Amino acid sequence: METVRILCFGDLLGAPGCALFQKYAQQLKRAYNAQAIIVNGENAATNGRGISPKQVEMLRHAGAAMITGGNHIFQQKDILLFFDQQGPNPYLLRPANFPSICPGRGIGIVSLDDGTKIGVINVQGRVFMQQHLDCPFRAVETALSFLRTQTPIIIIDFHAEASSEKAGMGFFCDGKVSAVVGTHTHVQTADERIFPRRTAFISDLGMTGARDSMIGMKVGTVLPHLLSQMPGRFEVENKGPFVVSGVCLEVEKETGRACSIERVSVLDEDFSF
Ligand SMILES: [Fe+2]
Ligand SMILES: [Fe+2]
Repeated sequence: METVRILCFGDLLGAPGCALFQKYAQQLKRAYNAQAIIVNGENAATNGRGISPKQVEMLRHAGAAMITGGNHIFQQKDILLFFDQQGPNPYLLRPANFPSICPGRGIGIVSLDDGTKIGVINVQGRVFMQQHLDCPFRAVETALSFLRTQTPIIIIDFHAEASSEKAGMGFFCDGKVSAVVGTHTHVQTADERIFPRRTAFISDLGMTGARDSMIGMKVGTVLPHLLSQMPGRFEVENKGPFVVSGVCLEVEKETGRACSIERVSVLDEDFSF
């Protein structure tokens, strides 16, 4: 049966995250023989908070077919207008379970040259996060009622803190979507697997940014805050070594069932930008 291969990358952290994506996106697309790239851009801004239109266009140019968001997605002011200027086929998403008055949408469709469509849902967890968001499970159900009329190939970026909630979303979606991939913790997990009804799953894709950091931020700006509980101003770590983290999915075109999920992890010790 014919398949499509899709690369998914976790949160890109600041300027190094974007520069690493520019360096590696096409290289890894070729290496994994992938046809599309989905990337989480909620920390792509230079200061690691949100994303601005400049970064959206740069990531698109570098090969991102869809950019997903999370709790930081609205932190750059100039992105608010951009969300609603995207028209009917958005390529920058925000979590679908944010209040409906928020700009943007949480559902998108990637159309490949051969006519294959890949549906993407971005949704955010509530455990140890903003608890007043709509229920992510019901938001997925609603999104699926539309997306499944468009394509059997559906990827969910579940932006969540708790691995328990992420596993819950995986089992909830088993047999309904091609893959549930987690983002937000910035730490790649080693639990990638295919569920019984052929939905691929990983708790977290991991981040793309500086390895010797506290989830992408300078240790010297975060650790004092933990020790003193005083307010702190976290800064993006711009020094290497760097990591690029994600997965490669293989999905049957006709059924949307996952065939494989493989972790992608690149260590770059020499990169400077
Ligand atoms: Fe993040
Ligand atoms: Fe996040």
